[in-house]
Amino acid sequence: MKDKITKDAIEAMLRVDHAGETAAAKIYDGQLAILGNSSVGSTIQHMKDQEQEHLDTFNKLLIENDTRPTALLPIWNIMGFGLGMASAVMGKKAAMACTIAVEEVIGEHYSKQVEALGTERPELKKTLMKFRDEELDHLNIGVDHDGRDANGYQIMKTIVQFGCRTAIKISEKI
Ligand SMILES: [Fe+2]
Ligand SMILES: [Fe+2]
Repeated sequence: MKDKITKDAIEAMLRVDHAGETAAAKIYDGQLAILGNSSVGSTIQHMKDQEQEHLDTFNKLLIENDTRPTALLPIWNIMGFGLGMASAVMGKKAAMACTIAVEEVIGEHYSKQVEALGTERPELKKTLMKFRDEELDHLNIGVDHDGRDANGYQIMKTIVQFGCRTAIKISEKI
């Protein structure tokens, strides 16, 4: 039988998810600063709106579970915005490549959490599954908008995903 999930483990989950959604919202903000008036502006705005909903949910969950956010929140804000802007400056396809890279990691991350919860915290599990599906929708939007055709797609994906995975590891702890 699986051990019960500790309160610490739940708090770590909420903290890292809150950090991730903070950065995600900022990535799309950064992209909107450059591409807001372009043909992909409304598509990016749609993803941004969903990230904001995710973030609002984790803000509420942190309070309900009496959990502090990561101490590194200001850094994730800046890095997220910077990544969004930098990718958008390289063009629409590069912005979408960034989305593919980020959302693939976040999707996997939520899937792992859903699995870890097992039969516990069914309400939270339902929320995480909904968000996971929305992140995978974002990934598909990136694919549909030719993100994989961006110049230097593979190298960019590798770098962005390494950054995301490192940020996740750090946010679980600090
Ligand atoms: Fe999200
Ligand atoms: Fe997303």
